[in-house]
Amino acid sequence: MERLLITGQVPLRGEIDVHGAKNSSLPLLAATVLCHGETVLHNCPELSDVTAACEILSYLGCKVRREGRTVAVDARNLSGGSVPDSLMREMRSSIVFLGAIAARMGYAKLSFPGGCELGPRPIDLHLHALRKLGLSIREEHGVLDCTVSGRMQGANLTLSFPSVGATENILLAAATAEGTTVLTNAAREPEITDLADFLNRCGAKIHGAGEGVITIEGVDRLEACEHTVIPDRIVAATYLCCAAATGGDVRIRQAEPRHLAGILPVFEEMGCRLDVEKTAVRLTAPEGRLRAVRDVRTMPYPGFPTDAQAPVMAAAALADGNSIFVENIFESRYKHAAELARMGARIKLEGRVALVEGVPRLYGAPVAATDLRGGAALIVAGLAAEGETEIRDIKHIDRGYERIEECLAPLGANIRRAE
Ligand code: EPZ
Repeated sequence: MERLLITGQVPLRGEIDVHGAKNSSLPLLAATVLCHGETVLHNCPELSDVTAACEILSYLGCKVRREGRTVAVDARNLSGGSVPDSLMREMRSSIVFLGAIAARMGYAKLSFPGGCELGPRPIDLHLHALRKLGLSIREEHGVLDCTVSGRMQGANLTLSFPSVGATENILLAAATAEGTTVLTNAAREPEITDLADFLNRCGAKIHGAGEGVITIEGVDRLEACEHTVIPDRIVAATYLCCAAATGGDVRIRQAEPRHLAGILPVFEEMGCRLDVEKTAVRLTAPEGRLRAVRDVRTMPYPGFPTDAQAPVMAAAALADGNSIFVENIFESRYKHAAELARMGARIKLEGRVALVEGVPRLYGAPVAATDLRGGAALIVAGLAAEGETEIRDIKHIDRGYERIEECLAPLGANIRRAE
């Protein structure tokens, strides 16, 4: 079983590139199903979740070629619209394939995506919207058996919660529908805008992505194109947490600072200095300890992102004072607190609220990653802790961070992967 071994208390210094966004690559790969021709995606990160998405595409009959961070998908000849349970379970977000497959094939048969470490991950908003777009969906024995006669039909939709995945499924199903779809209370995440930009480059007519109301005028056909995936804002935030927690001075390159607007003020509140450039951000940690953050409330974009909650909590664990976190997006996204406590962190949980009492020091310990961003939090803590930290179950981390130990080592981090 692979583990990460970290010896902490080395201030990170230097520059690091941010790779392409996992949460943009996945819906973009699903979108290739709609395109006639060979789609080429650049800056697609080399992650296990991306590999899982490529396996689904290959199973559907696409020709998939990967050279480093470039993925080419030829979806001219699809062989079917069913995805087996084994592939659906690889990745919770594989539900984002439903809208695209149904719109292209006229039917789709997928198993319910596994729940995940963040509590129940329902898909009711996805199914309700897709039914209004004309997809008939039978849910039995954990399988979604979906058919549509002819094309999907444009509709007026409102999401009760600005779900990222549901918004993506709606864009993918409505892009080639008959008629116009108006989606109200859409998610505004940059990954939504990236998907809409890609679809429009393929011939779609989508307006308003990134705002609360998105209009999708259905078109008959989408032609494949080339596209470069946006930078991963959560990976950027994680690197900044590593710099802040170790008292370091790090410049992250190939970033999109605009996408970090909900996060950067938290680092400033902790006493860090930020130099923001066009495609880079430099964080210089304060002399001495970080200051506590009054309260961090996770919100839909452009608010503070739930995916940054765990790594920021790891940095706040060392702050001088108490910090309060409120997790408003997921049911149970504090599993990393118990692991951080094993390293000396003092975190009290009460439902959606976590009270973090800053301590002057964390100590290396054997810990286990509970989920993707919880695992990232353990890396942040391990880099700042006294002594050695061993992190197990790092498959969670590899889902969203490309060879994290090779990225951090050039900054001085004493981190290596061991069998
Ligand atoms: C996407 O998940 C991201 N994943 C998540 O990142 C991210 O945390 C989340 O958006 C919020 O920003 C990908 O893009 C692959 P949601 P998604 O639908 O689409 C509830 C990471 O670490 N909900 O916006 O699943 C849901 O249970 C991952 O990279 C319903 O109730 O998020 C959750 O509480 C983790 N019914 C909330 O809404 C539904 O039909 C937000 O979910 C759908 C969602």
